[in-house]
Amino acid sequence: MSPRAALAALLLSAAGAALAAACTEVTPAPARSEARPMGIFSTHLPSNPRDHMRLALEQDARRREQRFLDAASPLSMWRATRVDPRELSNGRFTPDEAFQIGAQIFNHRFTREVGLGGADRPGMSRFHKGRRGGPDAFRCSDCHWRGGLAGGGDAADSAYLQGDGDRQDSALARTPIALVGAGWVELVAREMTAELARIDRALVASARKDGARRIARLVVMGVDFGVLAATSSGERDTSGVVGVDADLVVRPFGHKGTFATLRDAVEDELAVHHGMQTTHLARTGGAARVGPFGGDDPDGDGVVDEIAEGQLSALTLYVAMQEVPVVSFPPYSRGMFPDHNTTRQWQQGKVLFRAIGCASCHVPEMHVSSTVYVLPGRNGASDVSVDLSTQGGEPRLAAGADGHADVPLFSDLKRHDMGPDLAEPRADRGVDGRLFVTRPLWGLARSRPYLHDARAPTMEDAIRAHDGEARQARVAFERLTEPDRGTIRIFLTSLTRARRFTVR
Ligand code: HEC
Ligand code: HEC
Repeated sequence: MSPRAALAALLLSAAGAALAAACTEVTPAPARSEARPMGIFSTHLPSNPRDHMRLALEQDARRREQRFLDAASPLSMWRATRVDPRELSNGRFTPDEAFQIGAQIFNHRFTREVGLGGADRPGMSRFHKGRRGGPDAFRCSDCHWRGGLAGGGDAADSAYLQGDGDRQDSALARTPIALVGAGWVELVAREMTAELARIDRALVASARKDGARRIARLVVMGVDFGVLAATSSGERDTSGVVGVDADLVVRPFGHKGTFATLRDAVEDELAVHHGMQTTHLARTGGAARVGPFGGDDPDGDGVVDEIAEGQLSALTLYVAMQEVPVVSFPPYSRGMFPDHNTTRQWQQGKVLFRAIGCASCHVPEMHVSSTVYVLPGRNGASDVSVDLSTQGGEPRLAAGADGHADVPLFSDLKRHDMGPDLAEPRADRGVDGRLFVTRPLWGLARSRPYLHDARAPTMEDAIRAHDGEARQARVAFERLTEPDRGTIRIFLTSLTRARRFTVR
């Protein structure tokens, strides 16, 4: 099958309809009411249960069909995803189609033919060897699945980063992070970074102008990043800056906050878990990250351009366009709680969450002035812009009249000292062992186990492990009566993902 035909099947244009029809036993008649593109990875969340089930069955039929396509012509679906990055920005593909292509890559089982691992990494390795990683898995979705597509992972899916390739205690144990709402997280971080840069520029300019040392408090979106000083000659003193790197770039991704953008995070994930190198990383990464063989095939496995730029763009857009979590209130289980007591408890839990100091780090809402996610073009390709309030997985966040949105993240995207027990034995990419980014709590109920190394099977365990800067809030939690702690657990349990019917 030609790549174009495979692409048509992937995106379910004419060819796709024929494929679905081929699985007649399980495919109900096409729904006329649902005149939307419904690829295997539809962005649509039907509101009525019949449409929901029909969509799930169609998706299952198409997944089955794809297995046959793969059997007949093994790499055709993979080749179909090798789109030209310009086609993502020039309207050849809609954002919905970019999502489908990205989803295909996210769920693709990487093999040696497409570049899995490297010549010096012939096997799989649970414990990573240095910054280059394993490989430790075949698909993104092997680890990111819990609670739904692109979710978190279970304790057994933890990755062991930057070890000696042999011993668990040489590596840093990390649980896979749920990717829900990831594009919104980047939007919040970008606006915070822009605001910090503005304060920085104004401070340096005023110190120079006045010929005197000046200081500024770095408070953005209500989050306090300490103080920045500038000398009369305009030199910056960052010794008072806390919770963010000295360059004042907010890096919300990874448990330690090591990536500013989803593209950088995705590029690294491809490399460390799969040995799949983007064309860009192969060129710029250096031997420690991409392998010792040099040239355009630094891992020496005979495959060049393992992940083409267009594939990286589609995969990044897929991650950026993930659905946002929802708050699902107790009345949804009305039958179980006839007296609506749980609703009152939920309300009380919400109040207590603030009152005992949880919300000082887990900030319930962050404000963004624009809902447009921009993936900057590289190597001659143009930027791709996607309005997350109208595109991507449903449910989405709505934009206000002036184009802003409130992102119910429950995080300040700042790094905090969590005390000696949670600390890792060493720094990671310059971030001290005790520091972790406040984990966003949206979607919490669908992303256990908790904490960076998956040590906490329940939310209560996670809360009781808070120390360091979070000590006061944890002690306040422990001092509550058991029924009051229960109200906080009820509140946190309402932070979940929309219900979705799937056929496995
Ligand atoms: C072996 C399990 C595993 C696999 C496979 C895996 N991930 Fe991850 N992922 C993780 C872990 C663990 C983290 C947290 C890393 C850290 O703390 O630095 C993570 C973090 C991320 C993040 C940052 C999310 C955030 O909000 O901080 C993104 C994005 C991501 N992964 C995407 C991917 C993509 C895309 C793939 C496939 C190319 C992939 N992952 C494959 C385990 C995995
Ligand atoms: C000083 C900032 C801070 C305060 C205050 C704080 N937290 Fe956290 N919280 C964090 C950080 C940082 C993490 C991630 C720690 C890790 O991964 O090891 C976290 C993780 C969590 C998790 C686990 C989330 C997950 O997906 O793994 C829960 C649940 C949680 N906090 C609830 C609370 C509650 C409830 C309170 C109030 C009693 C609270 N937190 C107070 C910073 C804070």
